[in-house]
Amino acid sequence: MTFLFNSDARRGAVFAEAFAQELPDIPFTTNAATVDPDAVRYLITWTAPEDLARYRNLEILFSIGAGVDQFRLDTVPEQVKIVRTIEEGIVRMMQEYATLAVLALHRNLPGYLAQQRAGEWRDISQLQAASRRIGVLGLGQLGQAVLDRLKPFGFPLAGWSRSPRRIEGVTCHDGRHGLQELLAASDILVCLLPLTEETRGFLDAELFAKLPKGAALVHAGRGPQLDHEALVAALDSGRLSAAMIDVTDPEPLPSGHPFWSHPKIILTPHVASVTQPATAARAVIDNIKRHRAGLDPIGLVDRSRGY
Ligand code: NDP
Ligand code: OXD
Repeated sequence: MTFLFNSDARRGAVFAEAFAQELPDIPFTTNAATVDPDAVRYLITWTAPEDLARYRNLEILFSIGAGVDQFRLDTVPEQVKIVRTIEEGIVRMMQEYATLAVLALHRNLPGYLAQQRAGEWRDISQLQAASRRIGVLGLGQLGQAVLDRLKPFGFPLAGWSRSPRRIEGVTCHDGRHGLQELLAASDILVCLLPLTEETRGFLDAELFAKLPKGAALVHAGRGPQLDHEALVAALDSGRLSAAMIDVTDPEPLPSGHPFWSHPKIILTPHVASVTQPATAARAVIDNIKRHRAGLDPIGLVDRSRGY
């Protein structure tokens, strides 16, 4: 029974040490070339290897990130559990990023950066937090954590999910009708949805048209959820005022893509949140212990939903 780690060496070393301490009976390797494929019961990776089928006794395929859209779920054998990483480092970093982005857009940072480049010293009219409504798409581990971190600023907070949720201090919406209500009342919209067939192309011209005029967008979900041309058109027409974008399609963007130089876009290279090895190793080890005890791992993916 072996655990195969297929990611960078720095994180691999941290995982190896944690496994040696916590699960010494499970051999740990980072070397797919020399491992006996029949011995591999657990694999952690970002993308699934082409030759996944060679691990005939695989029990759990772990994504080293919070998302699993990089796997083709239908090609993973039915008996293999697919588990995403839920760990405090990812959550904390996403809280930081979303807070940074919401505050940057709330305080007109893209406008001030443009003025600085133009040598202009001028104040831009400023709304108070109580008048800036924040709407979060996706009320999973990240959406909820982000809303929690935004609470002290005094923004009116709302969120949207597939199934109904109750979160103290947050107006929760769900379903198609709920989406219209959320959009109509979001001055800053934050996307933290997983990429599925339902959310591909979700952030498009039609959706932007339902936001209040001059609303702003934070996108830290997945690149293919955003219609790039529609965003540029919405920013150029003034329908949207600004955007902070962490994920694009493709990644990286080609040179000359309008996002690189658009004055109303702040672009970051998919760094909103990064799996932290010590806390991720602990989460994976706990999940293997749960699995061995006959319990479902935390972060078990529902294949029918795609997340
Ligand atoms: P979760 O699975 O915990 O939460 C997903 C949320 O989205 C749930 O509330 C779910 O609804 C909702 N949802 C999914 N599909 C729909 C739909 N069709 N309509 C309405 N609501 C929907 O995911 P996480 O919070 O852990 O992560 C979200 C995403 O963030 C990841 O999948 C990944 O793409 C992205 N991410 C980006 C990172 C970055 O660095 N930019 C880092 C980490 C993650 P319900 O509650 O009803 O199930
Ligand atoms: C993730 C990511 O899914 O980094 O964890 O995007």
